Amino acid sequence: MPPALKAKPGQTLDGRFLLGEEIGHGGMSTIFKALDLQNPGETVVVKVRLPAFSSGVGAWSMFEREEAIGRQLDHPLILKFLPLAQDKRRSYVVTEHVPGRTLADRLGEQRPLPESEALSIASQICTALDYIHEHGFVHYDLNPANVMLCPDGGIRLIDFGLAHAAETARFTLSGAPPAIGSSDYLAPEQIKRKRGRKSADIYGVGAMLYEMLTGQPPFPGDDPLAVASARLLGDPPAPRSLNPGISRQAEDIVLRALRRHPNERYASAGAMKADLEHPERIALSGLCDRLQPVTRRRRSLRIARYIAATFILPVASQVALFLLLWHHLARK
Ligand SMILES: Nc1ncnc2c1ncn2[C@@H]1O[C@H](COP(=O)(O)OP(=O)(O)OP(=O)(O)O)[C@@H](O)[C@H]1O
Ligand SMILES: [Mg+2]
Repeated sequence: MPPALKAKPGQTLDGRFLLGEEIGHGGMSTIFKALDLQNPGETVVVKVRLPAFSSGVGAWSMFEREEAIGRQLDHPLILKFLPLAQDKRRSYVVTEHVPGRTLADRLGEQRPLPESEALSIASQICTALDYIHEHGFVHYDLNPANVMLCPDGGIRLIDFGLAHAAETARFTLSGAPPAIGSSDYLAPEQIKRKRGRKSADIYGVGAMLYEMLTGQPPFPGDDPLAVASARLLGDPPAPRSLNPGISRQAEDIVLRALRRHPNERYASAGAMKADLEHPERIALSGLCDRLQPVTRRRRSLRIARYIAATFILPVASQVALFLLLWHHLARK
């Protein structure tokens, strides 16, 4: 039986991890700095599931998956997971402690960021993503709170709570926690709950780069539903219209990563990284002149299409079928 009470500083899990300061919390878990009593002096991070998410087969397997995927990844820019015994008394994962702060903290202090810093962060995220994708996984939850900036200038990609195997992944929000991550960084296909692929991660890094360069996410707003649906209806404003100080090359990279159709985005994180490292070599695509803004007309057209597909077409086809049958029987 999973414990009914939330974990607290001062508790020791399975006689090994002494929980210290709480350093973060999300929709499903609380994150603690902790001491590993088996390796004296070693500080680790323990992510403990909230009791509400610690029971149920689906919930349990989801949390086990985070650990299983995390342990298969071994890369300097990706959070390292500690191997643990299977017979844990509650659901938690243990990782290295990453010094530094998150990209979200950095953006809270300064936005936009200098272009060179933004390109360097995005390029490192692409390096990590390329490795993850080559190992057959998709991260699916790229956002500034999941990117740690270390004092040595390197990044560490964290939080594999939504990661999946690329081949089997079907993005779903069913049974999702309330704080599944900001809709600011979700790809259109994630919002439509279609099968997700690595192109969803390319969109995520594109959305973060857009925010680093312009100071705002591609589709800003307080209503998550409106923010989510905007990206299905049109393109974000050209980055240089918000920050004329950035280069045309940087703008082009962002817009290629944020194409609405996955096939029109960079084919791989490696290809995006190559452009981020050598923007001077880019042949500009002119995408900035072909953007389709989210207008009221496009919004109305989409609603009309939805009503036609959901109500009018099914009724019309029933009527047509009835008339055909009636005509056929009347001739007999
Ligand atoms: N290994 C780590 N080292 C330092 N800080 C960390 C580490 N892991 C997490 N944190 C901090 O805790 C925050 C939340 O961690 P994480 O993203 O893993 O959980 P979460 O978003 O709450 O996940 P979930 O939605 O699955 O509950 C991070 O944004 C970061 O500030
Ligand atoms: Mg997170």
